[in-house]
Amino acid sequence: MLLNLLKKRCSVRKFSGKEVSEEIIDYILEAGRLSPSGGNEQPWKFVVIKDKGIKKKVSQIAYNQTWIENADFLIVLITRIVTDEEGGRDIQKARFPEIEAEIESMDKDLYSKLNQEEHQTKIPGTHMVLAALEHGIGSTWISYFKVNELSKLLGLPEEYLPSEIIAFGYPKTEMKATKKKKKDEVVFYNNFF
Ligand SMILES: Cc1cc2nc3c(=O)[nH]c(=O)nc-3n(C[C@H](O)[C@H](O)[C@H](O)COP(=O)(O)O)c2cc1C
Repeated sequence: MLLNLLKKRCSVRKFSGKEVSEEIIDYILEAGRLSPSGGNEQPWKFVVIKDKGIKKKVSQIAYNQTWIENADFLIVLITRIVTDEEGGRDIQKARFPEIEAEIESMDKDLYSKLNQEEHQTKIPGTHMVLAALEHGIGSTWISYFKVNELSKLLGLPEEYLPSEIIAFGYPKTEMKATKKKKKDEVVFYNNFF
């Protein structure tokens, strides 16, 4: 049962050192690949990092979060920027018609960096975390890193940006869920009361 797995899930930053098999890594990637996306755009690429030296560089780019080096592997979720020509800006104008003019006049480069479809990559990332959990593998999301430095390290073309990194590995100690808000603090019916 998925809920039973989720009740044990927590961010794992201490890893046992046991290697995750290629088959399981493929399973995790497949769970990501099959994700839904707006317009079935699938505006993502996944970069798997197993190399020790590259993991170390990533941990430095992530503001020296040294625990990242000890993960068995990392998956970087990459977003393809949806250009104005493809209607990227139009989607946001439709979502926020009150500030349509401001969105239209915003500098193109700044706009595309802010408007990367990175929310979409949260979906494959979540699938991957769950697929890993099914195999007893822990993970932690990482957003705190210098985007341009990671782009350079991975050799990304201009139209791609790294959105998230997820570190994976077998946990060193038993997973214990962190405290979450109660249902009545987060769930509302029909209106916000
Ligand atoms: C989008 C996202 C970004 C995160 N970025 C980082 C990060 O850069 N470094 C880190 O140590 N943890 C990071 N985390 C982990 C959170 O701190 C963690 O999920 C939160 O404290 C709740 O704990 P739990 O995952 O054990 O339930 C991130 C989590 C998410 C969902």
